[in-house]
Amino acid sequence: MRDFEGTNLTGKEEAQLQYEYLEKAKAYVAAKEQEKGRKLTYCVQTFGCQMNARDSEKLVGILEQAGYVEAEDEHADFVIYNTCTVRENANNKVYGRLGYLSNYKKKNPDMMITLCGCMMQEPEVVEKLKKSYRFVNLVFGTHNIYKFAELLCRALESDSMIVDIWKDTDKIVEDLPVKRKFSFKSGVNIMFGCNNFCSYCIVPYVRGRERSREPQDIIREIEGLVKDGVCEIMLLGQNVNSYGKNLEQPITFAELLREVDKIEGLKRIRFMTSHPKDLSDDLILAMKECKKVCKHMHLPLQSGSSRILKIMNRHYNKERYLELVDKLRKEIPDIALTTDIIVGFPGETEEDFLETMDVVKKVGYDSAFTFIYSKRTGTPAASMENQIPADVVKDRFDRLLKEVQTIATDKAMALEGKVMNVLAEELNEQDASLITGRLDNNSVVHFPGNKDMIGQIYPVLLKECKGFYYLGEVVSNE
Ligand code: SAH
Ligand code: SF4
Ligand code: F3S
Repeated sequence: MRDFEGTNLTGKEEAQLQYEYLEKAKAYVAAKEQEKGRKLTYCVQTFGCQMNARDSEKLVGILEQAGYVEAEDEHADFVIYNTCTVRENANNKVYGRLGYLSNYKKKNPDMMITLCGCMMQEPEVVEKLKKSYRFVNLVFGTHNIYKFAELLCRALESDSMIVDIWKDTDKIVEDLPVKRKFSFKSGVNIMFGCNNFCSYCIVPYVRGRERSREPQDIIREIEGLVKDGVCEIMLLGQNVNSYGKNLEQPITFAELLREVDKIEGLKRIRFMTSHPKDLSDDLILAMKECKKVCKHMHLPLQSGSSRILKIMNRHYNKERYLELVDKLRKEIPDIALTTDIIVGFPGETEEDFLETMDVVKKVGYDSAFTFIYSKRTGTPAASMENQIPADVVKDRFDRLLKEVQTIATDKAMALEGKVMNVLAEELNEQDASLITGRLDNNSVVHFPGNKDMIGQIYPVLLKECKGFYYLGEVVSNE
C-alpha cells in the first residue's frame, strides 16, 4: 500500500492531467467500438452510504465521457463495484456478486471488472482478491478515486490485475466530470474522511483524515448544479458539524449553511450527518433562519446508555443528547428527527439496552435506522471482551425495531390532514397524471399534477397516509 498521495501536483494540475488521460481513454474506447461494431457498455453498482453514491456519479462521469453507455445490468463491458465495509454483511455481498461476474466474464472475455471504495482500503481484502479473484482487472481505493481516468487507461492497456491503493491523501481535486443519477437533486461533498474514531467504526480507517473543501468551491459547485436544473442538494460529510475547522480560514458549518441558503434558484438544502457532540446552538439557529434548509435533522444516537456511549467514544451522554433534542424542538417545533442505532455493542447489558429504548420513546423519531453491531477488524471494539451472543442481540434488535416502527407510523399518521410543503420531483412512474414529491422529512407524497410543476415547492394537503407515503392534493399555488 502506498503512503500519502502519489504525486506532488496541485489539485488543479492533477485535474488537468486527468483530463489528458480521459482523452487517451476516449481513443481506446473508440478503437474497441470499431473492432466490435457496437458501443461499449458500463454498469456501476454502489454499496453503502451517500458518499459512495456521490463517488459513483464521479466514476460514471468519467466512463460516459470516455464513450461507454449505460447497460441495464452487469452484462456489460465495464463493471464497477463501489464497495462499503461498514458492516460485515455489506462486505460479504461483494464476494457473492463477484462469483456471478466471473461467469459473465467467461462469456465476454473482454469484460473489465473493477473494484473500488471503502472495502479496498482493507489490506486483507486486497490480499484475498489477489489470491482468489485474479479475473478482476482493476482495484483502487477511496483516496485515489480522482485518478480514475488514469487508472482506466492503465487497465485498458494491461492484461493483468492492476492494484493501486493509498493509505491516505491530503488532496482534494475539483472539477472532474460527474454524471448525476437524478436531474433535480444532488449530493455535494463538503468534507471527506473522519477523525472521530468511534470505537466500533471502520470509516476513519478507510476514508482517512477529515478534510474540508473550501467554501467558495462548494458554492461554485452548487451554483453550477442549479444552472443545470438541480433544486435540492444534500451537503455530505461524516460529521458536517465539524466542517471548516481545519481550513486556512476557518468557517463553521452554520456559516456555510447561511451562504448556501443565499444561492438563487436553489429550493432545498439537506445535510448529513450531524454528530451530536459538535451540534452548536448557532447551527440550530441557522436551520431556523435559513428558509431553504429542510426542517429535518439526522442525529445518530448509536446508544441511549451513557456508559456504552463512553466506550463507543461518542463524547456525549444520554442527558446531553436529550438536551439537544429539546433545544432543537424548542427552536424548530415541527422538526423531523431521524437517527442511527446500534444494538449489541460489546458489553451491552439489558439495562443499557433499556436506556436506548427509553431515548427512542422520549424522542419519538420520525424514522430510525437500526443496526446489529458488526465486528470490524482493526477497530478497538473488535477486541473488546463481552461480545454479545447473537440470540440476545436478535431479541433486542426485534424489540427495538418494533418500537421504532410503531412510533414512526404514529408520526406519519399524525401528519394526515395537514398542509405541508412538497417539492415536486418527478412524474409518477405508474400514473403520469400524478407527481411524486417529498416533504422536508424526506417522506414521499403523490399528488395530481403535471411535469411543468417539477422543481417547485407546493403546499399540499396530505389527504391519506399509506404507511411509507402519502396521497395529497395541492391546495393553492405559492
Ligand atoms: N458518520 C456517521 C455514520 C456513518 S456510518 C455518524 O457518525 O453518524 C452509518 C451508521 O452505521 C452509523 O451511524 C452506525 O449506526 C452504523 N455503524 C457503523 N459502524 C458499525 C458497526 N461496526 N456495526 C454496526 N453498525 C455500524
Ligand atoms: Fe464512524 Fe463515528 Fe466517524 Fe461516524 S463519526 S463515520 S460513526 S467514526
Ligand atoms: Fe460504507 Fe464507506 Fe460509506 S464504509 S457507509 S461506503 S464511508
